[in-house]
Amino acid sequence: MKITFYGHASLGIQIKDINILVDPFISPNEKASHIDVNSLKADYILITHAHQDHIADVESIAKRTGAIVISNFEIVNHFGALGIDGHPMNHGGKWDFEFGTIKYVNAIHTSSFPDGSYGGQPGGFVIEGEHKNIYIAGDTALTFDMKLIPLQTKLDIAILPIGDNFTMGIDDAILASDFIECDKVLGYHYDTFGYIEIDHEVAKRKFFEKDKDLMLLSIGDFIEL
Ligand code: NI
Ligand code: MN
Repeated sequence: MKITFYGHASLGIQIKDINILVDPFISPNEKASHIDVNSLKADYILITHAHQDHIADVESIAKRTGAIVISNFEIVNHFGALGIDGHPMNHGGKWDFEFGTIKYVNAIHTSSFPDGSYGGQPGGFVIEGEHKNIYIAGDTALTFDMKLIPLQTKLDIAILPIGDNFTMGIDDAILASDFIECDKVLGYHYDTFGYIEIDHEVAKRKFFEKDKDLMLLSIGDFIEL
């Protein structure tokens, strides 16, 4: 399994020969201007919630690639009306896809579309595939519901928002890592705009002091599990 960071909350996940994009917000992100959004491969696009900084490039990528959108019912309906195929889910639901299993789990946040219309409730994804298990938290506060995840899934890595203000910050992400019983964290949703700028060294040191590992990837870099 290969996980590529495309900036903000945008990820590429490759499981065997299947390409999954998560929350593509690349073309509006000046910090990701070196990423060619038109060359990204996608068989599936996962969307955690309807905010602009998570859906900006969904329509263009899905129409170019024919990717299937996986998200909550309302978001899949929204893109379905634009002629894009989708697989609707809702909280607590699990489905076996060709690349592995996805469970759509709770997040505490909001989920309106840019025009203010209803985007369902926000979520995160637990993905089990190729003998590796990952948790993509989406935009969320720290929540006790995270404690449910390790009851069923032993995580290899967790992708947690750390930018604060709109989501968890560093200190809550460290508690989240305890709740989900996973000490290996890839941080996301930071530095993109002023409200969520963080000090990388302070963030990494705080994790290190709790015997945890916080990875911060440069945009375009990847890790392999
Ligand atoms: Ni959001
Ligand atoms: Mn966001």
